[in-house]
Amino acid sequence: MTSRYNAVYAESQADPEAFWARAADDIDWSKRWDKVFDADEGVYGRWFVGAECNTCYNCVDRHAERGRADQAAIIYDSPITGSKRTITYAELLAEVTALAAVLRDRGVGKGDRVIVYMPMVPEAAIAMLACARIGAVHSVVFGGFAANELATRIDDAKPKAVVSASCGIEPGRVIAYKPLLDAAIDAAKYKPDTCVILQREQQTCELIDCRDLDYRQETEKARAADRVVPCVNVAATDPLYILYTSGTTGEPKGVVRDNGGHMVALKWSMPAIYDIQPGEVYWAASDVGWVVGHSYIVYAPLLHGCASVLFEGKPVGTPDAGVFWRVISEHKVAALFTAPTAFRAIKKEDPDGALIGQYDLSSFRTLFLAGERADPDTIQWAEDKLGVPVIDHWWQTETAWAIAANPVGLGMMPVIHGSPTVAMPGYDVQILDDAGHPVEAGKLGNIVVKLPLPPACLPTLWNADDRFRQSYLDEFPGYYKTADAGYKDDDDYLFIMARTDDIINVAGHRLSTGGMEEVLAGHPDIAECAVIGAADALKGQAPMGFVVLKSGADRDEDELQAECVKKVREEIGPVAAFKTVHVVTRLPKTRSGKILRGTMRQIADGEAYKMPATIDDPAILDEISAVLAKA
Ligand code: COA
Ligand code: AMP
Repeated sequence: MTSRYNAVYAESQADPEAFWARAADDIDWSKRWDKVFDADEGVYGRWFVGAECNTCYNCVDRHAERGRADQAAIIYDSPITGSKRTITYAELLAEVTALAAVLRDRGVGKGDRVIVYMPMVPEAAIAMLACARIGAVHSVVFGGFAANELATRIDDAKPKAVVSASCGIEPGRVIAYKPLLDAAIDAAKYKPDTCVILQREQQTCELIDCRDLDYRQETEKARAADRVVPCVNVAATDPLYILYTSGTTGEPKGVVRDNGGHMVALKWSMPAIYDIQPGEVYWAASDVGWVVGHSYIVYAPLLHGCASVLFEGKPVGTPDAGVFWRVISEHKVAALFTAPTAFRAIKKEDPDGALIGQYDLSSFRTLFLAGERADPDTIQWAEDKLGVPVIDHWWQTETAWAIAANPVGLGMMPVIHGSPTVAMPGYDVQILDDAGHPVEAGKLGNIVVKLPLPPACLPTLWNADDRFRQSYLDEFPGYYKTADAGYKDDDDYLFIMARTDDIINVAGHRLSTGGMEEVLAGHPDIAECAVIGAADALKGQAPMGFVVLKSGADRDEDELQAECVKKVREEIGPVAAFKTVHVVTRLPKTRSGKILRGTMRQIADGEAYKMPATIDDPAILDEISAVLAKA
């Protein structure tokens, strides 16, 4: 089949308003829009201005009302706890309504923020939908972040309530969430009124009188009382959620997502990009704490009337590298979406793919990868072993859906390993040099998207329009800066090569090296430091710290490394996967004092590098090489 991509993309460019208005017909609106796009609203314009809607209604109620009441909505599969549970749309409606009643009774209403700090349990998705139902704005914080990161988000979002759990489970250890939550609330200046805590049997926790509620007891009471909680109409432009993501400093950026445009783009993506029909089983093996989890564990599959697999486990070790195939065959998954690192982990454990043959994968049609660069070796391995198309696609927390992909539902385009294929409808992707001039095909440059961004992309940062402009819009006027560098080939295929800022991708998790540097700089013996993302065979990149000691500090290097690792775990979280520190006498800098992190990374990765013209003292690079050679 020839792809319809070119025709569809051309339509989206020729008349974006007509294109997205047509897509919007798949959403139930309580009031239709006055303008599909209003260029005078917001920072760069807003989508579906004047419309009113409710995201929970579109994800849950309408399916329960229209023939899907008994169909699975969420399939919870947790090899790490040995439990499974299927939740139908009717049951999901009941659960969401009950939690919405509990939150509403505690004074949470339209526009109020609720932080969700949960492991991968269905109640995390239920909490997100309960907020959407009452017009509250959720902010999910990934469980692998430490109390300090949670505190920063509490102070920025000022949540009226927090929904959390007693614990999360990682291989070989139970992580008590409640002490982290209590410590975060203690550290934060802003104090939420209520915490609704899910007691998990692996480890329960003490509840604090007046502030904490038991999730199960309270929702059961609400169910027993047959509480009715109608979906609250919100403006299409009202925020559905805030998702904090790493910025170029340690301060996380609160990416704002609206209700209307978000639903339209995500619903469109399910058949067009993922080739999925309502009623089919879709699995994003990610975490609800990341954007992939928001968009493709919770919102898109439910908007589309699919069954979404919510997986609490790891690709290896829970119990083995065959668990993905077991889940696909048991639940008849049609499409899997995960990060390349998961496949690298599986490939390492089961290089011949022997475990794949043990399962019936006849339901499985397509594998989608995103979150980090998909290396051609991993793609090739997955194609060979699985015998299905492997589709790399590129997007960001800021966009909520793919900027570039191979739209399988429109008819597949030829796959080129190393490329996430082409720009999706609504995205006019261009490559500019540092002065803002277009560069020719094949030449590396800054990847930017011409404004306006399509529906679902961030309209701004939470309470920070100026930071939004500075971070994304000011450098290339008229464009959104993706902060990725790359190029287009003659056929407009995109190649994403590197970040242009301090963000690194560790096991598909987005982290700021600047944030880690701030933590190391707080160590009493460290005068100066730099953190880079060095190539890692499993995780794609791994953080590597270089520290200069204060004069007079005479430290055992192993001991210092252990202290630094502990400090990063405590202040950012284990997810930073920070394990390596090198003590150096000096850091390489430009004559104006800028640390040459890019050159240090090239040395660490064994790449050839060009001596930076502005370097202050070239001998320092030899010192760095010598330290790394010794390690
Ligand atoms: N709560 C608490 N701790 C967590 C956590 C959570 N939700 N998630 C991860 N961590 C911890 C891990 O236990 C690990 O701790 P350790 O240093 O004590 O071992 C640390 O954070 C680093 O985690 P991670 O980088 O994920 O490494 P890992 O060795 O646990 O697993 C993979 C490696 C590749 C198996 C795993 O990262 C993976 O499945 N990734 C792909 C899927 C994915 O989630 N992508 C994200 C966006 S699409
Ligand atoms: P996040 O916001 O966590 O989704 O991370 C977004 C960043 O991850 C992007 O800006 C890219 O640097 C990187 N990324 C995501 N998907 C891909 C991909 N398919 N190929 C290359 N890099 C990717």
